[in-house]
Amino acid sequence: MTPQHSLPEHDPTDRVESAVVARLARNWGQRATVKNPEPDLDELFDRDKLDYPNELLPFADHDRFLGLTDDQQNQLRAWAWIAFNKNVMDIEQYVVNPGFDLVAHDALDTGLGETFALAVHQAMVDEQYHTLMHLNASAVTRRQRGWAMPNSALPDVLTLRRQRTVAADAPDPRRRAISIFAFMTVAEVSISSYLDLISENDVIQPVNRATVRLHNRDEYCHASIADDIAGVVYDTLGPGDRRHFLDGLVDAMNAFSSNDYSTWHTIVELLELEGGQAMIDDAEHDTRRSTLVQDFGGIHKLCRNLGVAEKMSFEWT
Ligand SMILES: [Fe+2]
Ligand SMILES: [Fe+2]
Repeated sequence: MTPQHSLPEHDPTDRVESAVVARLARNWGQRATVKNPEPDLDELFDRDKLDYPNELLPFADHDRFLGLTDDQQNQLRAWAWIAFNKNVMDIEQYVVNPGFDLVAHDALDTGLGETFALAVHQAMVDEQYHTLMHLNASAVTRRQRGWAMPNSALPDVLTLRRQRTVAADAPDPRRRAISIFAFMTVAEVSISSYLDLISENDVIQPVNRATVRLHNRDEYCHASIADDIAGVVYDTLGPGDRRHFLDGLVDAMNAFSSNDYSTWHTIVELLELEGGQAMIDDAEHDTRRSTLVQDFGGIHKLCRNLGVAEKMSFEWT
């Protein structure tokens, strides 16, 4: 009989297994951020560094922004960081973990083996811990800057709103599950490039860079796991389900690459920034800034491997 604490050498019921996922599941205890000591965030905090990179503000070159006082610009950047963290937390909790949960219970009847279940349960622990890390990162920013900036003042993030709409529009529970699975796949295979926007910029607050770097270390592994799972699941889907999955990937990529202007409108309103709404409107209508930098190279590769990249209504760059 196979001991409970280690992975089986082979699965007698012939479920689908993966050597890559098995290796990642085996070394989770050593590599996972949740298993390592936490950095002291207050110690790392540097008041002279920016809380958020200007390049990621969709209005960075707008005259109104350039004319603001340093304090007003700092408040906008602090809010941007709080919103970034909220975005990550909402995605972890309501987009990624629900998608992983479907895999953990093999809800699409793929025949996934124990290795997948183990890796996905580990990844769900990781995501819960990432949520805590980003919660702490916002808390230290509020504490050190002395600004309240509550998450509850911000709207639900755009990706989550789209995921809910797509899931609600699905004709039956199975298609609904496939939509949720597609959104999780895009999140997991492409979140690294989103996190890199912060971690690779050395004018940025060390706390923020450390948070994102530690988070990203886990995500490189999640990307492999999610990519593997997507391939296995896709293989077992019928033609209609496959189409629904691919449409879900496109919906998710469009959602992830969109700037969330409703959040920006809320922030300038909270700051009572004179001319703020017009500045956000201008940014929203500036076509050069219509999409956030987002690298879908991983999803493109997945779709090429599935032989479907050309059949999708998405402009790969
Ligand atoms: Fe994560
Ligand atoms: Fe992840």
